[in-house]
Amino acid sequence: MSYLPDYIDGALAQTRTERIKELLSLRYDHPPLAYVHSFGCQQNVSDGEHLCGLLASLGFGFCPDSAGADLVLFNTCAVRENAEERVFGNIGALSHLKRARPDMIIAVCGCMTQQEAVRERLRKSYPYVDLAFGANAAHRLPELLLRLLEERRRVIDGREPGEKIVENLPVRREGKVRAWLPIMQGCDNFCTYCIVPYVRGREHSRAMPDVLREAKELIAEGYKEITLLGQNVNSYGKGLEGEVTFPRLLRELNVLPGDFWIRFMTSHPKDCTKELIDAIAECGKVCNYIHLPVQCGSDEILRRMNRRYTAAQYKELVEYARERIPGVSFSSDIMVGFPGERYEDFLQTLELVKEVRFHALYTFLYSKRGGTAAAQLPDPVPAQEKSRWFRQLLAAQEQVTRSFHEQMVGRTLRVLCEGPGKEQGMMSGRTESGVIAQFAGDEALAGQFLQVKITRALNWAVCGEMIE
Ligand code: 5AD
Ligand code: SF4
Repeated sequence: MSYLPDYIDGALAQTRTERIKELLSLRYDHPPLAYVHSFGCQQNVSDGEHLCGLLASLGFGFCPDSAGADLVLFNTCAVRENAEERVFGNIGALSHLKRARPDMIIAVCGCMTQQEAVRERLRKSYPYVDLAFGANAAHRLPELLLRLLEERRRVIDGREPGEKIVENLPVRREGKVRAWLPIMQGCDNFCTYCIVPYVRGREHSRAMPDVLREAKELIAEGYKEITLLGQNVNSYGKGLEGEVTFPRLLRELNVLPGDFWIRFMTSHPKDCTKELIDAIAECGKVCNYIHLPVQCGSDEILRRMNRRYTAAQYKELVEYARERIPGVSFSSDIMVGFPGERYEDFLQTLELVKEVRFHALYTFLYSKRGGTAAAQLPDPVPAQEKSRWFRQLLAAQEQVTRSFHEQMVGRTLRVLCEGPGKEQGMMSGRTESGVIAQFAGDEALAGQFLQVKITRALNWAVCGEMIE
């Protein structure tokens, strides 16, 4: 499914852009500046790059914080409550700026504002928010901004999550070395704790020629790492015509000319097939690294989460990948404190984490999300107790990560240099498994693949020396 974006719809978009520019020049006595902040997942970061591309096409420049901005746009995340509260805190902090500069535009979009309860809170408690719209709706920004500028009153848009995939949106990418490439949107899985299927809508895949075209453009622009994005990339192709699958997409990308790496996220274990693992094994440009969220090690909790695999099936998958892909590494998402989880269940998670030896773990305390199935379940374990388990998990993982890094010492690895490191004279890059590697060098190395001999392990990275 691909459509001409309405903003490109010929004369209409042209007139709209001209009209917006005209109204902006009447509103401000200087070229307008925007500050866009994306919270949450990489998908959101990628959406933010498209929002910036659109704003640039409407004549906006950009500034690094809200203080000097004429338009502040928060592109929000709804996955956990504390992420939402942080956004409300950030919006609250803008009230004094808005009072001093009433012509400033404050806008909120993304997964949070897809929920009516959030829009209601904005309407009632944040009267200085001028514009709000939901998820998958970046392409609607010009239309909504025009309404706001023309009618000079707030626009709180409550449409359903955008279902169609809009191609050819302008984009203003943040990096020069690594690029995000969305291949699908939405999620059909309905894990019982998760709000994503409600706010981002049903799964839709981009047509393969569109994905390949964008990948070729990125390679031609000099990007060295492309990360394919989707809530559930393994089911890429569902609903498209022909034999379009994720393993096939990987194979088609792998044969594009050029020296570059391909990564992807997020994979769902239930859809991570042997065919996919074979494709990773056979495609030299696809990194030997899989982010494969397991969430939990207890079968009973996995069942209540509606994850549709068992811990044994998960471990079997990891084992198969380790046989087929030499040196493959795994990272994962773990959730602690799902309603009804007992300490015995948690211990099974701990066991699985130690057994699989993920090189990195993204850990979350369960957060109740209104409208999800899990929100109805009894949740008797006190928060303090859950936090204790959580700390136990972090401590265990710290050791695993540390020993993973220690095992890298002495090896010479291919590293993609991304830019300056934390210390003067140091550069930073990533290994194929996604571990941060620091080494002495100058900025001209950014964007190059280098051979780095690892000499030292830290908790969060490895250090090494570049081999000429
Ligand atoms: N509470 C806590 N963590 C959650 N995640 C998704 N929904 C919730 C929730 N309600 C986590 C899952 C998912 C990651 C992106 O966020 O671990 O894999
Ligand atoms: Fe949420 Fe599950 Fe979909 Fe991931 S796969 S976005 S956790 S519903």
